[in-house]
Amino acid sequence: MQDKAIITNDSKSTECPVIIGTEGEKAIDIAKLRSQTGCITFDDGYGNTGSCLSKITFIDGDLGILRYRGIDIAELSEKSDFIETAYLIIWGRFPTADERKAFEAQMAENAKLPDSMTQQFEGFPKDAHPMAVLTSMINAMSCHHHDLFEIKDEKSFARATAILLSKIRLIAAYTYKHANGDALFCQQGEGGYAAQFLSMMFSWPGKRYVADADVARALDLLFILHADHEQNCSTSTVRMVASSEANLFTATSAGVSALWGKLHGGANQAVLEMLEGIKNSGDSIESVIAKCKQKDSDFRLMGFGHRVYKNFDPRAKIIKVACDKVLDKLGKSDPLLQIAKDLEKAALSDSYFVDRKLYPNVDFYSGIIMRAIGIPTNMFTVMFAIGRMPGWIANWKETNENPKARIYRPRQIYMGPKLRSYEDAKKG
Ligand code: SDX
Repeated sequence: MQDKAIITNDSKSTECPVIIGTEGEKAIDIAKLRSQTGCITFDDGYGNTGSCLSKITFIDGDLGILRYRGIDIAELSEKSDFIETAYLIIWGRFPTADERKAFEAQMAENAKLPDSMTQQFEGFPKDAHPMAVLTSMINAMSCHHHDLFEIKDEKSFARATAILLSKIRLIAAYTYKHANGDALFCQQGEGGYAAQFLSMMFSWPGKRYVADADVARALDLLFILHADHEQNCSTSTVRMVASSEANLFTATSAGVSALWGKLHGGANQAVLEMLEGIKNSGDSIESVIAKCKQKDSDFRLMGFGHRVYKNFDPRAKIIKVACDKVLDKLGKSDPLLQIAKDLEKAALSDSYFVDRKLYPNVDFYSGIIMRAIGIPTNMFTVMFAIGRMPGWIANWKETNENPKARIYRPRQIYMGPKLRSYEDAKKG
């Protein structure tokens, strides 16, 4: 039985069908609202607006549930790895052993950058933000793959996917080396996706870096946890760009740009800077919590709060446990971890946070692990982008495969000046 909703305005009513999702979520389909009532809806920040039907990821924000293609994130974190999870997110099922082998072989074939792209790094100032470099270089890939502007077959899509998932690692590694004034040297190394990436990042001519297995596993886990998250800001941006039938490279480059903001993926860098600020200033935990609550202060507890989760972000819980394991394995201690734990404890017993259902999100602890591995703080969001690439690709694919797909074109309510002449306007 399908529900329906009646919307009435100015004594005009319209009956709207209600869509019911696999997990019982309900949406009022307002496709005919404007034509039947002359009204549009208004939903600042789209907090109550569904932009698409998707089969990729399910989140229940009240219960703190996250599933990729129906599989719980805790189970994937424990039993899968990033490549297998990426394949699942993109193609909707796990790869067979042969499919996985072919997928990894295609990524190995596409691990290097064309010389002209490598030369492009010389054009970036050494202090360029790594996210500015990443979004530029992801878009630059489209300069080298005109044949992949229009992807109309599975083979071309698989090749574009392998190119993006593989090359994003080397772009990140070269960004790091260029910033340090070092030669753009690449040693792909052995092991899985994360181990190969760490080898690209930290190997130098004559000095091969082989990642500790537990360290590589911790980074692989971070990539799994970041791999998709339904219609977040950057993924919605990818779908927006995909809706105009723009190519996969430029759409994912737009996703990188949206992710950069500190309210989104940039929060992981902002969390570390906040924790370091607290450590260096000696501010008490109580004073930091109090600062969040000052109405006139724009200070926020970075890494806390979420538009969807009104319970613990399941990813934050998994990363918090991994922090202790990685630090123990590396024989390191990090005072910032204790500050983070103290902040979490204080916030979760404070009515300001409890009443607003503000909990730690994916960004609150992730930086502690990346810092322990040796990733510079200003590259934390690049790590987020590497993890999120499968989700962006999957959402671009789903948008392109939708036979009813329409270009995203929201409406607005105009609040500007009424009709006025050029002369009147010149009078000011
Ligand atoms: C990610 O969408 C996704 O799925 C994103 C993501 C993904 O995987 O793609 O999960 C990744 O982006 C995680 C979020 C990372 N951002 C941060 O950690 C930045 C800090 N958090 C906030 O800025 C905020 O919580 C947002 C941006 C995450 C959510 O903002 P909303 O949903 O617009 O909530 P809001 O700003 O309307 O806040 C509601 C209230 C306000 O107080 P009142 O006006 O009711 O008095 O809660 C307060 C806010 O001031 N509040 C915070 C707070 N977050 C919200 N107060 C202090 N510290 C915070 N972090």
